[in-house]
Amino acid sequence: MENKQTPEQQHFVDAAILSRRSIRAFLPDAVPRADLERLLEVAARAPSGANMQPWKVYVVSGEARQRLSRRILAAYAAPKEAEAPARTASYTYYPRQWTAPFIERRRKIGLDLYQLLGLERGDTAGMAAQHGRNFQFFDAPVGLIFTIDRVLEQGSWLDYGMFLQNIMLAARARGLDTCPQAAFIHYHDIISDELNIPASEMVVCGMALGYADPAKVENRLTTEREALPGFVKFFEE
Ligand SMILES: Cc1cc2nc3c(=O)[nH]c(=O)nc-3n(C[C@H](O)[C@H](O)[C@H](O)COP(=O)(O)O)c2cc1C
Repeated sequence: MENKQTPEQQHFVDAAILSRRSIRAFLPDAVPRADLERLLEVAARAPSGANMQPWKVYVVSGEARQRLSRRILAAYAAPKEAEAPARTASYTYYPRQWTAPFIERRRKIGLDLYQLLGLERGDTAGMAAQHGRNFQFFDAPVGLIFTIDRVLEQGSWLDYGMFLQNIMLAARARGLDTCPQAAFIHYHDIISDELNIPASEMVVCGMALGYADPAKVENRLTTEREALPGFVKFFEE
């Protein structure tokens, strides 16, 4: 096994990691099917416990993407009737109890995005419309829906994250951008019906994939990361 890497090769990986950002406005330019297939083949080299490969991907583009978006947006826009059962997510992504430092971080990203978009505080309709853009995959030509077999446990979810990050990095290497989207977990019933997903699988998340629209303000959002001392402890003596 060739194990030596030149500094350029190491930097190439860093560049893919550092240039990845969540992109929330895409150009309509299509991504060829062969490129998508290669990207997913590369991403599936992700490690997984006992090589279980817990991922399943449903790729939507063209009319299939429009159809899925239309159905979800119709449900999203439907008036919330008091007697209608609350929409249940396929799983709980966010903490049930928001505590520091997570709540502040969550607030900041939301406020920063809405400020960029020129949305006033309290403009709930504007915010809801922006959230709804998730379901159009932010106009990306390709939408990815990820599912996992319900029998799988937390370890497989850890593996799944590596697969997702591989997709986002392999995309960067091809000049493509992404936005991972947990927003879809609230619509797993519609998604499962539309894409014939077996009951044994549940929706993990969605992802928009395509070419970033550089003219859109929402793509200027930059996010912070905590400095090393906040999350790393070294023990040396
Ligand atoms: C699993 C996962 C789900 C996410 N879901 C959404 C989503 O539904 N909508 C959205 O706009 N961003 C979503 N994000 C993007 C995060 O807001 C983003 O990763 C975070 O703010 C850091 O910004 P960056 O990705 O630009 O570095 C998600 C990210 C991850 C990893």
